[in-house]
Amino acid sequence: MGTTPENTGKNTIEEQYGDWTAPDTQSSNLTMEASVADTRLTDKLTLSEALKDEDLLRFFLLHAQEYAGGDEKVTPYALSQFQYFKRPREGLEPHIYVIKNADNVVAGASLTIENSGDQKLAYLGQKVVAPDSRQQNLGPQLVKKRLDVAREAGCSQAYCYVTKDNSRALRSILKGGFVVDDFFDEPPPSGHGKPPELWNVSKDLNKPELPVPDSETMKNAPIVNSSEEFGAAQIAIPFENKELIKLALKNGYVGRQIILPEQFNPEDQIQVKELKMFLEKIEPENQK
Ligand SMILES: CC(C)(COP(=O)(O)OP(=O)(O)OC[C@H]1O[C@@H](n2cnc3c(N)ncnc32)[C@H](O)[C@@H]1OP(=O)(O)O)[C@@H](O)C(=O)NCCC(=O)NCCS
Repeated sequence: MGTTPENTGKNTIEEQYGDWTAPDTQSSNLTMEASVADTRLTDKLTLSEALKDEDLLRFFLLHAQEYAGGDEKVTPYALSQFQYFKRPREGLEPHIYVIKNADNVVAGASLTIENSGDQKLAYLGQKVVAPDSRQQNLGPQLVKKRLDVAREAGCSQAYCYVTKDNSRALRSILKGGFVVDDFFDEPPPSGHGKPPELWNVSKDLNKPELPVPDSETMKNAPIVNSSEEFGAAQIAIPFENKELIKLALKNGYVGRQIILPEQFNPEDQIQVKELKMFLEKIEPENQK
């Protein structure tokens, strides 16, 4: 595990990072009011916008434990993310939402509202749930909260990127009614420090929610191995066949859900070839 206030015996992040000085908050986004009220998820868990430095740092530490690649890198990575977040950015309005129990931040994610010309977009990023809090619907709660805020802010579309083999994250976001728009073999042109090979998923915030197909429908979808077999209302394509999935998306199918293999151990890194992508043809007026 990374360096957290819990395992150093120090009580607060300020104690732990005594020699570190918080940047000026006057010009940052931290003074803004949370636009949607805090949500009590259970007796023990609350979801809210992180407006205090301590909550932000705890979130970035959690994020760093997942992404920094080695304990010694966790703290510097968390602090650099924190400082980047506090830097004002033209046309971008970043927010962090966290789920907290009595002691700590157990999950969190960012929302960046982008003012691009005549429309506002919501970029969802940095979603992370502490390992022992996963599969308790916290990820989807963070998606829902950020979409509520994005709608309230007048965003027309939400989007995010999921790395190629992160089937867990892809499944989690598709449950929120997102659809797979594209698959990038190369890094897309701009922003967010995105790695190559990404699923690009989005959700039209002005359209009504489409129901997520039930697992029986998904299980019964014919498995398609070439584009000549396209045509059915629902199809399933082996997850590793990225080219065919891309082709199906271009042919009017949308990604709706991943079929899980019969059995999986959530702790294991799943073999991607065991999964299939469920795709569904939807009426043009329902399409984004
Ligand atoms: C991705 C993540 C945020 C999901 O959070 P969560 O709160 O556990 O989300 P969910 O409750 O929706 O559970 C994940 C879903 O994936 C499924 N799942 C679990 N392990 C899986 C696996 N190995 N392969 C595919 N699906 C898997 C779960 O069954 C669950 O779906 P279900 O509710 O339909 O059964 C969390 O796993 C995490 O923090 N991962 C590390 C960071 C990360 O990858 N972030 C996403 C960046 S895009």
